[in-house]
Amino acid sequence: MKLVFALAVFLNGIALAQRDANSKPFRLFIKSSNSTINGTALGACHQGAAIEGACITSDRITDPPRSYTTFYHSEWANEPANDLPGILFYNLTLGGSQPNSTRQVPSAMQFESIATSDIAWPNFSPKNITNTYVYFAKDCEEMYIPLNLDDTVSPPAYLEKTKKVQNWYVCLTRWSYLYTTLNWKFGVTGKPQNPSCQKVSVYRVFI
Ligand SMILES: *[C@@H]1O[C@H](CO)[C@@H](O)[C@H](O)[C@H]1NC(C)=O
Ligand SMILES: *[C@@H]1O[C@H](CO)[C@@H](O)[C@H](O)[C@H]1NC(C)=O
Ligand SMILES: *[C@@H]1O[C@H](CO)[C@@H](O)[C@H](O)[C@H]1NC(C)=O
Ligand SMILES: *[C@@H]1O[C@H](CO)[C@@H](O)[C@H](O)[C@H]1NC(C)=O
Ligand SMILES: *[C@@H]1O[C@H](CO)[C@@H](O)[C@H](O)[C@H]1NC(C)=O
Repeated sequence: MKLVFALAVFLNGIALAQRDANSKPFRLFIKSSNSTINGTALGACHQGAAIEGACITSDRITDPPRSYTTFYHSEWANEPANDLPGILFYNLTLGGSQPNSTRQVPSAMQFESIATSDIAWPNFSPKNITNTYVYFAKDCEEMYIPLNLDDTVSPPAYLEKTKKVQNWYVCLTRWSYLYTTLNWKFGVTGKPQNPSCQKVSVYRVFI
């Protein structure tokens, strides 16, 4: 079961049963040694029709939560109650500029990438095609992806104890617009090739 589970998580696109137990809503904040971005909230930002990136905002914990800084985690409810795999969601409000528009469309996060870069853009969209599973550490609420299969050694080996990898970087990126976004660096060694990238952690605070 453990191996099946590890593989299922590894092959991010697989539809997992019983994954629709939504967490309470929360905000995501940056933890960084750079005080300019330390403590700022992530916000969904327009990248295209019903596609949002994960942008750095100027909001801090003392600012009120907004629809675009509110996220939730749709968890795989069958797992034991430790750190749960789940999909990060943001609710897109349709016709957002109309004051009485209330239609909320769950938009799931997935890593998007191109073969010539070593970072992924976490983008939100209502498609649910190849959603990316993320975890939150119970002790510190920091967001990570588990490392189960180590291919920095040959032959590649399954780890007895999962490692919590936090390859989050804040970088100036251009998926469509030039934005300062949160990104994921592929692999577990080295730094992103994008020279603007700064290493950060991301933690959640429930609303
Ligand atoms: C701190 O972050 C800001 C905003 O991303 C950036 O312009 C600045 O260069 C960073 N400072 C350092 C020392 O990395
Ligand atoms: C970052 O923010 C945390 C909590 O808001 C604070 O405890 C820490 O001192 C800050 N660090 C820097 C480098 O600004
Ligand atoms: C918004 O609400 C007002 C008052 O309830 C109503 O007259 C109006 O048609 C609504 N607009 C839309 C776009 O639903
Ligand atoms: C997101 O939208 C769904 C309906 O589409 C709603 O049930 C849910 O409460 C919303 N969650 C948040 C955090 O707004
Ligand atoms: C995506 O998944 C969420 C949560 O399971 C669900 O509410 C939503 O309807 C799905 N969207 C599509 C387009 O299938």
